[in-house]
Amino acid sequence: MIITIDGPTASGKGSIAKAIAAHTGYFYVDTGLLYRAMGYMAAQEYSRDEVDRAMFWAPELVETYKARLAYSYADGAAVVTVDGSDVTAQLRTPEIDWYASHVSSVPMVRIGLRAWQRELGSKYDVVIDGRDCGTVLFPHAPHKFYLTASFEVRVKRAQADKIRQAQGMTPEAIAAAVIMRDLRDLSRPISPLKPADDAIILDTSGLGLEASVALVLSYLL
Ligand code: DC
Repeated sequence: MIITIDGPTASGKGSIAKAIAAHTGYFYVDTGLLYRAMGYMAAQEYSRDEVDRAMFWAPELVETYKARLAYSYADGAAVVTVDGSDVTAQLRTPEIDWYASHVSSVPMVRIGLRAWQRELGSKYDVVIDGRDCGTVLFPHAPHKFYLTASFEVRVKRAQADKIRQAQGMTPEAIAAAVIMRDLRDLSRPISPLKPADDAIILDTSGLGLEASVALVLSYLL
């Protein structure tokens, strides 16, 4: 069984997907974490300017990065290791937001991660969240959701994030980062963010986590 949950930045899809995985007992795949890990490795080697120009990508580099990476999900937590070290806590910083947003627009990176993401989906019953899970990764999934919220609500959710606050980002900078990530997600030629034709579209603007989870579950019964 495959349940796909796509949606824009700060739509709440990650928390909701994790709760649905806990409720169903399914394996949770956070595809954003994989792009974040690719961004993390790129950040160790390349400047923002180099990543912006995206000139250095080659199939061998993508394969090397993939070989350094492992994803696991246990006891309700998704964990990513790079070279055997748990880096999960380092992947949700504003710096990695930027790198992940950029590397996820590189076709070679997307194609490199695609087979791996599909393999996870074929090995387990999964709840998988991201941007292209229902459109590209699993177009035949029986349950597809597209979760969204108004721009104002998504910005408020991002501004409430403790990591961003701790890094001294102003509310304006956080709002600008959401706009930048939306633009990149929506405008990239490969796997742009959009709802699958057969996805159930849910707006969680007025809903808390519990109500959002209950709403998604109501479609699964
Ligand atoms: O969901 P997230 O914020 O953790 O995702 C991190 C970045 O990866 C974000 O900029 C969008 C990108 N992404 C993507 O392009 N495709 C996916 N399936 C998941 C994430």
